[in-house]
Amino acid sequence: MTRVTIAVAQRPYEAWIENGLLSRAGTLLREILPGQKRLFVVTVGPVRRKWGRKLTASLEAADFKALLIEMPDGETHKKLASIEQLAEKLAQHGADRDSTILAFGGGVVGDVAGLLASLYMRGVDVVQVPTTVLAQLDASVGGKTGVNLRAGKNLLGTFHQPRAVLIDPAVLATLPEREFHSGLYEALKCAVIGNPDLFHQFEQNKDKILKRDPASLERIITDSVHLKASVVSADERENGLRRVLNFGHTIGHALEAETGYRRLLHGEAVAWGMIAATNIALSVGRTDSVTAGRIADAILGLGSLPEVNVSGRKILKRIQADKKTRNGVVHFILPREVGKVEVVDGLPAPVVIQAVDELRRLSRK
Ligand SMILES: NC(=O)c1ccc[n+]([C@@H]2O[C@H](COP(=O)([O-])OP(=O)(O)OC[C@H]3O[C@@H](n4cnc5c(N)ncnc54)[C@H](O)[C@@H]3O)[C@@H](O)[C@H]2O)c1
Ligand SMILES: [Zn+2]
Repeated sequence: MTRVTIAVAQRPYEAWIENGLLSRAGTLLREILPGQKRLFVVTVGPVRRKWGRKLTASLEAADFKALLIEMPDGETHKKLASIEQLAEKLAQHGADRDSTILAFGGGVVGDVAGLLASLYMRGVDVVQVPTTVLAQLDASVGGKTGVNLRAGKNLLGTFHQPRAVLIDPAVLATLPEREFHSGLYEALKCAVIGNPDLFHQFEQNKDKILKRDPASLERIITDSVHLKASVVSADERENGLRRVLNFGHTIGHALEAETGYRRLLHGEAVAWGMIAATNIALSVGRTDSVTAGRIADAILGLGSLPEVNVSGRKILKRIQADKKTRNGVVHFILPREVGKVEVVDGLPAPVVIQAVDELRRLSRK
């Protein structure tokens, strides 16, 4: 089993990663929470139906009383009303300040249960048990919680670091194909940001990864968590370094918003965003054509992406209005070489517009 330490200031914690870990979740949690009796497991229908029994059996064998609390599935339920409903249920079942919440699901459950934990009785512990690729290698590590407002995504949230993160890549076997695929782009993102060896795995081991070979998945998730953990440990509150994790996201977020969050899954939008960022880097001379070609090939080699038909000009407008734009300065994370990115601002507008317009042509191929 791999243990990755997330060295945040207040209380460092570990991410535990291993195929089949779910059946040992109880034993592990017994070590982390020796005196705890009750656990409140926040989850969604699809995850409960496929994996709920396995988790609760393991918890009960370790002498926990586990109560499963279901929230409705899907991004549309990542809203404050869900927090209130879940909190009412916690209160009805007698959860107190010493209770622990388990977030058992994808990024939506992780964000909602994390925010719930940070608010319930002014803060209780949360353990993340992520079940999608995206949640395992990204959302469950780093302590960001949040819900959406009508005005935008993740506008209401807190930092609330989990007590532990339990990652069982074996649960990815039941993930719908498109969700699975979409999460892989985030792993590729980690590779480009800081791990050439992980990038090689995508180049050389692509078929195994796409077939969900358990050992290959365990490896790419472990490498990605390592990368995220090192970035988060160095910059817990996203003041500087943590921004590199936004590679592909500046344009990706704008693409998601411009297409009304209906056309693209998050990872797919990030994939397009990484291609655009790579083209920008190439046209301003920050990277070379060999590197740019490798990155684009790795992304496009994972399979076809939904077509994007957006105007570069509109995307640039959205980027300029984004909450992450500080003092009107737009920062782009551009690849320099595989495993190395840099923060660049002051890019000429036409370069950005052209790189986005180019996506339209690429996606028709
Ligand atoms: N907190 C962070 O740092 C952070 C980082 C990235 C993304 N996020 C958030 O994560 C959310 C997206 O997360 P997501 O992509 O995991 O989506 P999701 O949580 O909606 O899960 C996708 C779908 O897969 C189903 N599912 C989950 N695990 C399954 C399994 N093992 N088998 C079968 N079905 C399963 C879910 O029920 C859901 O229908 C977004 O709201 C995003 O803002 C947060
Ligand atoms: Zn992302």
